[in-house]
Amino acid sequence: MTKSNTTISASITAIGGYVPEDRLTNKDLELIVETNDDWIQSRTGIKERRILKDPKKATSFLAIQASKNLILKNNIDPLTIDMVIVATTTPDMQIAATAAYVATQIGSNNAFGYDLQAACSGFLYAMSMAAGKVESGRYKKVLVIGADKMSSVIDYKDRSTCILFGDGAGAVLFEPNNEGLGWQDEYFKSDGAGRDALCVKAGGSLFPASSTTILNGDHYLRQDGGKVFKSAVSAMSEASNTILERNNMTGDEVDYLLAHQANERIIEAISKIMKLNSNKVLKNIAKYGNTTAATIPLLLYDFQNQFKKGDKIIFAAFGGGYTWGAAYYKWNKLVK
Ligand code: UT7
Repeated sequence: MTKSNTTISASITAIGGYVPEDRLTNKDLELIVETNDDWIQSRTGIKERRILKDPKKATSFLAIQASKNLILKNNIDPLTIDMVIVATTTPDMQIAATAAYVATQIGSNNAFGYDLQAACSGFLYAMSMAAGKVESGRYKKVLVIGADKMSSVIDYKDRSTCILFGDGAGAVLFEPNNEGLGWQDEYFKSDGAGRDALCVKAGGSLFPASSTTILNGDHYLRQDGGKVFKSAVSAMSEASNTILERNNMTGDEVDYLLAHQANERIIEAISKIMKLNSNKVLKNIAKYGNTTAATIPLLLYDFQNQFKKGDKIIFAAFGGGYTWGAAYYKWNKLVK
């Protein structure tokens, strides 16, 4: 399964990120719902999250900021970008693709853009899409953004969800690589039997917006936390171990695990099953909470300076649908 260096690989050459300035701390939440800092930290590992308070700003704002950060820091001409994928579960609007708007706003007028909705697995799947496009030889620069304004679908009266989620965005640029580095292998799964356990029920074609759906609060995210927790641990660890096995790797050989940041206990459970030392397991959930499609690119953004060429990285994600998977990636030096 490992890439031979005679074919084109796809690797990340630049990274950007953005989180809003406003912080929602556990202490702030204590004033809104019946909860406390100790409970939240011990059950989830979260200390605070970032919230995009301006009601006029949506997911596209987060995505544009992360993309501009990537473009400006790396001196990239946006007109050279061929394609823009926005992984999001909170698009600006139901019909118009957020990615099309983002591409235009960042000056990528030669690119086409579309959204990918796979909840918390969205960015992992979008990286796979981008890698495939680059490996095909047809596209040279594919921008992948994971962005979510989760505060737009959270019921701040529901303590079982409002303590978990935050807003943010991260972006990566995929380009061809001729040394066999970058995207190596992936194992993706889905199971529609899980859709009622984690969803925003209304606003789609099954339950279009109506006064009843509004009264019922059906436009908010609801989940069966315990059920999702167990499914997330078993699915992500099974996917990650499958990736290790079919690439003849053990946990010792993995340099880093970048897993979706939904709950610190989920991440710890997976790393235990994978037999990974804790220093290989990257976490930033304490400061951002669960930013859905943005958790993995924000990990890449925060920890980019510690990766070395050739490092073996495992990505893992699990989200609504259910959707989940794991991927194996060999680190390539960034442009800057
Ligand atoms: O991104 C992928 C999607 N999401 C996830 O992966 C999330 C997966 N689930 C979870 O992270 C956890 O299930 C939660 C953090 C949501 C909940 O943690 P838990 O350890 O599963 O708690 P629980 O739901 O079993 O609740 C335990 C107790 C209950 O009280 P009783 O019945 O034992 O008296 C809850 O009512 O904790 C209570 N509780 C709270 N207490 C204080 C639930 N939420 C809170 C809260 N503050 N915010």
